Amino acid sequence: MANGSETAKLTIGDKVIDLPVMKPSVGPDVLDIRKLYAQGDVFTYDPGFTSTAACSSTITYIDGDAGELLYRGYPIEELAEKSHFLECCYLLLYGELPSAADLEDFESRVTRHTMLHEQMQYFFRGFRRDSHPMAVMTGVVGAMSAFYHDSTDINDPWQREVAAIRMIAKMPTIAAWAYKYSIGQPFVYPKNSLDYSGNFLNMCFAVPAEEYVVDPILSRAMDRIMMLHADHEQNASTSTVRLAGSSGANPFACIAAGIACLWGPAHGGANQACLEMLREIGTVDRIPEFIARAKDKNDPFKLMGFGHRVYKNFDPRATVMKQSADEVLGLLGIEDNETLKVAKELERIALEDEYFISKKLYPNVDFYSGIILEAMGFPTSMFTPIFALSRTVGWISQWKEMISDPEQKIGRPRQRYTGAPRRSYIEIETR
Ligand code: CMC
Repeated sequence: MANGSETAKLTIGDKVIDLPVMKPSVGPDVLDIRKLYAQGDVFTYDPGFTSTAACSSTITYIDGDAGELLYRGYPIEELAEKSHFLECCYLLLYGELPSAADLEDFESRVTRHTMLHEQMQYFFRGFRRDSHPMAVMTGVVGAMSAFYHDSTDINDPWQREVAAIRMIAKMPTIAAWAYKYSIGQPFVYPKNSLDYSGNFLNMCFAVPAEEYVVDPILSRAMDRIMMLHADHEQNASTSTVRLAGSSGANPFACIAAGIACLWGPAHGGANQACLEMLREIGTVDRIPEFIARAKDKNDPFKLMGFGHRVYKNFDPRATVMKQSADEVLGLLGIEDNETLKVAKELERIALEDEYFISKKLYPNVDFYSGIILEAMGFPTSMFTPIFALSRTVGWISQWKEMISDPEQKIGRPRQRYTGAPRRSYIEIETR
């Protein structure tokens, strides 16, 4: 971090406090307030961390005003066109694009860790048969620390590496088995002859009774969805993983915490909520009614798949996703899809509406992803698990970065207390 001697001055009453200015490689300067409490006896107040950086990171950069997303400096649009998911995983984990030999070695390591410990099946079977796959994933990933004892020591770099590879490799198996379990079909084991996305599709859609051939169009589309979701700097679930990890918790527990956070409809759960909303709207003529509801302050309804904390121009992932939706539905011969029509018209109307323009609300990554996943044959309950398996590499890269960052401490926010001041206990008879 290239920090000069520049400082910002904060005046509180008659006290002036110097706050060092930290310089990033790109993006806005950051004020170092670590000594603020010691020097000024004050805290800062920032629920939702809208103005607070909680770490330094070299992994992902977002410029929300320019609609730019970079993985280790590479634009997402270029990666979506030229790269593939496992290469992006390598890039996110290790910081550089791999050589051909490094990529081959990495792919082989991931491929050879895709099977789950056989006893984990019993863990799946403990869930109710109609459990949401996200509930199953949260539980099963948390339980991995009970099955893989040789990769839970966070102070051993080799164990951290093994845990990372295990999670990237096994997450598709866990997500696919959560799905199979929810529909009462037998688990399908991973097949090492298939690539990462093809293997996931096979584990989701193959049945022992019939031959299943992975459609290369669908496998490429799935790979692209995974790339677009792979990391997104300090979003809610990633911050959850970092916060959980800051106490020294094992990596499986930390990623399970991230999955739990991702499930919420304001975050990864938005893809399921968005498709359900598009279905509820049903036909183009009902769109104005839903736009009016989204604008009504007294109605809690929000347009799902719209808006973002950081992107205030457009979400570059949504642009690629929209293109991909057109391609996939075209290739599958279902361009006439009513949900896609509603989505496109809703986007058009919202983008011309003063409310959405003034609040800088644009479609986000979740707006079009559900349409592609539905066309592939996934039920809505699988949308967020697919997000989770794609984001695993981002979580684990950020977790590894945190563990080796000498400046990181246990995450422990302060508060502005607004409750009762000290008072004496009142005996029950006199209350
Ligand atoms: N529909 C209608 N109004 C909206 C929407 C929306 N989707 N999103 C934000 N607004 C309004 C909001 O009511 C507020 O209005 P006002 O200033 O009058 O109170 C203003 O826009 C600013 O919104 P905010 O809630 O303060 O913004 P935020 O940065 O806290 O929230 C968000 C960002 C993504 C949680 C929010 O836009 C939202 O809930 N969107 C719908 C859910 C969604 O699609 N989430 C996926 C995000 S991208 C993928 C991911 O992160 O997993």
